[in-house]
This record gives sequence, structure tokens and C-alpha cells, in this order.
Amino acid sequence: MPATTPRIRPVSDSEPAHARGLDLVHRPRRNRKTDWARRLVREATLTVDDLIWPIFVMNGQATRSPIPSMPGVERFTVDEAVRAAEMAAKLKIPALAIFPYVDPARRDPTGSEALNDNNLVCQTLRAIKAEIPGIGLITDVALDPFTSHGHDGLLQDGRILNDETVDILVRQALVQAEAGADVIAPSDMMDGRVGAIRAGLDAAGFTDVQIMSYAAKYASAFYGPFRDAIGTAKTLSGDKRTYQMDPGNGLEAIREAALDVEEGADMLMVKPGLPYLDIVYRLKEAFGLPTFAYQVSGEYAMIEGAIRNGWVDGDRIVPESLLAFKRAGADGILTYFAPRIAQRLAEQG
Ligand code: PBG
Repeated sequence: MPATTPRIRPVSDSEPAHARGLDLVHRPRRNRKTDWARRLVREATLTVDDLIWPIFVMNGQATRSPIPSMPGVERFTVDEAVRAAEMAAKLKIPALAIFPYVDPARRDPTGSEALNDNNLVCQTLRAIKAEIPGIGLITDVALDPFTSHGHDGLLQDGRILNDETVDILVRQALVQAEAGADVIAPSDMMDGRVGAIRAGLDAAGFTDVQIMSYAAKYASAFYGPFRDAIGTAKTLSGDKRTYQMDPGNGLEAIREAALDVEEGADMLMVKPGLPYLDIVYRLKEAFGLPTFAYQVSGEYAMIEGAIRNGWVDGDRIVPESLLAFKRAGADGILTYFAPRIAQRLAEQG
């Protein structure tokens, strides 16, 4: 756009005061003058098709239990998860992401419960598939809900073993695919896991099961409330900085994603969300693959906490936070606000 220098109209005695405006060629405000004009030029929009709803499941029956650090979010027993899926399907939310709160008695150092084909995740997959077949089901591949130490992989002498962990993750992915997972989402950040999972799925005939790779997952304090939700906050020994990414790195996210793309990822994901919008933008630009962002538990807690305190306007801040992802190039967002926003979008027609 040619630069035009705003000129101040010369003041002359013969001119009335109101005529002494700026002599502007460009007045960007013209395109914002009314609601219809703003709608006409809006670049990014949020629809229900952009939403993935992460849900937490637990053992038991007919129970929902609140998660104190995520006010408004509840863990569901499997039967309640089916009701939640039914509501989500009615609202036209395309997909759910399932996360288990595993009974601590079932956790061990190797996360063996992850390979139990009747574990909570598999039970939930089968129950929802049987009743609500039209909704997409995404499952997390990582060992943290199942390990006694809360890490995503095998731990030996304080080190996370990469290749040995990948072997288990492939088997975890197969167990999930057999139970009905539509999309496998490896969130563990081990090297080489996307390729290994793709090969494993293909060899077992699951050529249609997609892989949504947590390509750029940062070692973030924004996951705090999630660890309360799945019960790993207290058990986690140390931190995840030898496998999750350093928050200072952007180019590394491109290298990480390039490997996942090469290894067969169908979709990429960035996590956390809002603090990492630059990464969303860069990955979308670099690869042009369907790219998702995860508005994680800590982001939810901050926004919802402020809403509940009356410090911000929830009706406006939630859609604005989600629209920001779309503007940055995201194709969709994993968000705990999904049902609330879907409801609102439905009411607006
Ligand atoms: C586990 C996993 C985490 C999240 C999704 N999958 C936590 C972690 O890596 O510690 C975080 C989601 C959220 O905070 O909402 N691999």
C-alpha cells in the first residue's frame, strides 16, 4: 500500500472550524463503521466445526466430579461420558479428545495399564462408538496417566528412555485403534514415535486411523490443572524438560514438525495455545497441514477464574480467545470451552 502522509489542512480564516479535519486518502475506520460492514470484511471466523472437546473420564457410574483448578469442568464416569458425547454430537462438535483419570492402584513404573484393552480409555471409546457413532474420537498416546511417576515414558535412573518408550506407545496406539479411536494423538514428545505408530497402525490394517501429532509441545506450567484432573500433579517426579520443548524455542518447533510430517503425521498440533500463537502461525505457513492448537488447562483456568471473579466479560473473552487461534492460522482448537461455545454458536444460528 502506498504510504500517504496525513496532511493537516491549512487553517484559513475563511474555513469553518469543522472543516479543518485531516486530509486523508485512507480511513480504515470506514470498513468498521457498522456491524454489517465489519461482518463483510472479517477475515477469520469461529464455527462449531473448529472445536475439539477434551474430556476427562474416571471409574464408577453415573457420577461427575468437579476439578477444583478447572472450575466448570468435570470428570465423567464412562456412562456420563456417553451422555456428554451425545450432547456434543447434538451441538455438532466434530470430535472429542479423551483423557483418563486412572485409579492410582493401577499405575506402575511402566504404565502397563496403557496396554490393557479394557482400560478406561478403551471402555470409553467402545461405549461412545456404540451409542454415538458419528462423533470423532481422539485419544492421547503417552504414558503419564498410567505411570506411578507421572512421566510420559519409561524412567530409568532419572532418565526417560526414548526407543523403549516408543515400542510401548506403538502398542498403546494399537490398543486404542482396536477399541475404536479415529485419531491417535501422540503427546509424549519421544523422537521417532509418529513414524513408528504409523507403521504399527498400517501393519495392523488401521490405515484409516489418523495421526494428530503434538508436534510442538512445550514444557509448560500451563498444564498444571490438567495434572490435577488426571491425578499426576502430586506424583510427577521432576519435570518434563528432557522431552517437551523449551519455551524459548521457535525454530526448533519447525524442525520437530518437519520430522513428524515426514514420518506421516496427518495433522499437527501446538500446545499450549495462546502463549504460542506464533508457533501456530509458523507451522501453518511452513507445512500447510491441518494445524490445531490446544488451549490448555492453565489457559482455561486463567480465563474462567477471571470470568468467575467478574474481572472480565466471559461472553466476549472466550470467543475472542478462540478467534485468535483462527486468525493465527489454526484449523481448529482443543478447548474446554467447546460445549459452552458450541451452545452459543447454536443459539446465534
Ligand atoms: C500428557 C498430556 C498433558 C496435556 C495433554 N496431554 C500434560 C502433560 O504433558 O503434562 C495437557 C493438557 C492441558 O493442560 O489441558 N502427555
